Amino acid sequence: MCSPAKQFVLSNGVSIPAVGFGTYKATERDSAVLSAAIAQGYRHFDTASFYGNEAALGRAVAESGLPRDDFFLTSKLWKTEMGCDAALRAFDATLDRLGTDYLDLYLIHWPRPDLELEDWAALDLETWRALEALYQSGRVRAIGVSNFLPRHLEPLLASASVAPMVDQLEFHPGYIQEEAVAFCQAHGILVEAWSPLGRNRLAGHPLLSRLAEAHCVSPAQICLRFALQQGVLPLPKSSSPERMAENLDLFSFSLTEDEMAALRAMPQAGWSEEHPDRPRVRAQEVT
Ligand SMILES: NC(=O)c1ccc[n+]([C@@H]2O[C@H](COP(=O)([O-])OP(=O)(O)OC[C@H]3O[C@@H](n4cnc5c(N)ncnc54)[C@H](OP(=O)(O)O)[C@@H]3O)[C@@H](O)[C@H]2O)c1
Repeated sequence: MCSPAKQFVLSNGVSIPAVGFGTYKATERDSAVLSAAIAQGYRHFDTASFYGNEAALGRAVAESGLPRDDFFLTSKLWKTEMGCDAALRAFDATLDRLGTDYLDLYLIHWPRPDLELEDWAALDLETWRALEALYQSGRVRAIGVSNFLPRHLEPLLASASVAPMVDQLEFHPGYIQEEAVAFCQAHGILVEAWSPLGRNRLAGHPLLSRLAEAHCVSPAQICLRFALQQGVLPLPKSSSPERMAENLDLFSFSLTEDEMAALRAMPQAGWSEEHPDRPRVRAQEVT
């Protein structure tokens, strides 16, 4: 097997560090945890207007003393910021809060603002037009989507002049969204994994524990290495410097094809219960 590289390359040639730091619930106002992540070596950060921590991230980047272009900063526009004008305003506000004059990646957070909206495809396209304009003006280096399944991507791809470069999806052992990932990969769209560790819902899973023991690593490292070997970019969040470092230490071991197959075949586990087209329900997990 070829070892995954430490960067992925997007369809427009932009390089993106292969492990990003997830910031949801990492912090709101305080930038200390983000400064700790920078000190541990993270240069790729995933935020969103919804997370309320763009200003804290901007401060951590500024206080690092490192040049802006050492960082890869992603943000997302929220459900209430969809539509062309609203998206353009949301982008400006995000840049203001981050204290930067460009973004590396900007995503539409969810394909529909609510389940009642029937013509969500038209709203997605109108929003996408704003992202295309931002991309063409050079204010963002790459654009993409999040939580888009093939049925949401198809109408967008049919009308887009710039195809999405990224789709950020829930992805971890026990919830690998095979069809959506295969669709993205066939269309040159890099999949990023949100909740790549299953947000602790996979703790103690016997298969992960067995593989971790066999490779002398942690179950979290198994999840993250699994994503990388599937060609998926993981975005782990942690509040501890030790776990932050552990989550970057993924390149000194590799999973065999049998181990990968076992992880792919793992029955559903750790699902967040979130789905773009359904109300949140209690997960019927089989562990
Ligand atoms: N696009 C979307 O709709 C969407 C949705 C959800 C999340 N996201 C993005 O994806 C990122 C990651 O997802 P997530 O925050 O939901 O969950 P996650 O990264 O799967 O899991 C985070 C949890 O795992 C723990 N953890 C981290 N490293 C660990 C390790 N090495 N060993 C044991 N436990 C460890 C953390 O605890 P400690 O903090 O105590 O270390 C935290 O409780 C988010 O922060 C956000 O940027 C995007």
